[in-house]
Amino acid sequence: EQQDLQDHFDAVVSRHERIEPRDWMPERYRATLVRQIAQHAHSEIIGMQPEGNWITRAPSLRRKAVLLAKVQDEAGHGLYLYSAAETLGVSRAELTEKLVSGQQKYSSIFNYPTLSYADVGTIGWLVDGAAICNQVPLCRTSYGPYGRAMIRVCKEESFHQRQGYELLMTMMSGTDEQRAMVQESVDRFWWPALMMFGPPDDDSPNTAQSMAWGIKRDTNDELRQKFVDMSVPQAERLGVTFPDPELRWNAERGHHDFGRPDWEEFAAVLRGEGPCNAQRLEHRRRAHDDGAWVREAALAYARRESDALEP
Ligand code: ACO
Repeated sequence: EQQDLQDHFDAVVSRHERIEPRDWMPERYRATLVRQIAQHAHSEIIGMQPEGNWITRAPSLRRKAVLLAKVQDEAGHGLYLYSAAETLGVSRAELTEKLVSGQQKYSSIFNYPTLSYADVGTIGWLVDGAAICNQVPLCRTSYGPYGRAMIRVCKEESFHQRQGYELLMTMMSGTDEQRAMVQESVDRFWWPALMMFGPPDDDSPNTAQSMAWGIKRDTNDELRQKFVDMSVPQAERLGVTFPDPELRWNAERGHHDFGRPDWEEFAAVLRGEGPCNAQRLEHRRRAHDDGAWVREAALAYARRESDALEP
């Protein structure tokens, strides 16, 4: 019977159909999904911090309203993703515990500081742009609840990306100081954005198995290349350059060649040694502790309501 279950699972995956929560699945498939979806959810929640940093200092009411809406969207994305993870038998409370105790990761990109207001635009353009590049194929991931969450997330991310690009366009049509601010911000975020796609395929322990299971639809290097190719013409139109002397069009390959990201820096950020790792986790822990009374009150209320229903 075990073999029949495995055969059915393999057949569904190879037909590119969906595995649903009640279907049988290999334990390692479940564990890989929990790891990736949890990490993704944590990234959305931690990702609220770098941009949240600018809400009180946005230069106009319109910019403030847009930024507030955007940061709230990220919280919503985290919630869709925690819900998708819950269908695999882990609770949001458990996952949050693993985040604040440092047992689970979140994206490296959110360990970099936001030093100028231009960073709000650059994060929208490059960071959310990279996220879309990675997440559009995940709409076709083999696990149903994850793929369906991605469809909504991607629609909102494309709004985020456009608002970032529009913000930078506005700054680029301003003063020399504003243009310099944009270029300086792009210089800081370009390489960390390329690292969002994960290590090179040769050093990626999970890619082969995740591709075989249809969890991932493209490899880390394929998506990184796609992102570089789509970003270059956008940079030209904006009037900024990327800090990579090796970046050039390769007509033979039909793609841009580009330099090697600093993988030692990436490894250090993953070890917790990035510029803001400690600050991000500390902030998240404090928010979690400060919210304890809300969780307790909600539980007490739910208990009272269900007691009232007892005959
Ligand atoms: N930041 C932090 N950790 C990373 C990153 C990154 N940018 N890239 C890879 N890693 C980790 C992996 O999680 C894995 O660690 P683990 O085994 O301890 O969990 C390790 O490095 C090796 O990497 P891979 O074998 O390549 O891992 P995987 O197959 O999971 O691929 C990837 C990594 C591409 C990030 C994948 O998990 C993915 O597509 N995730 C969903 C998208 C996502 O999480 N986006 C979050 C940022 S975007 C946003 O929130 C706006």
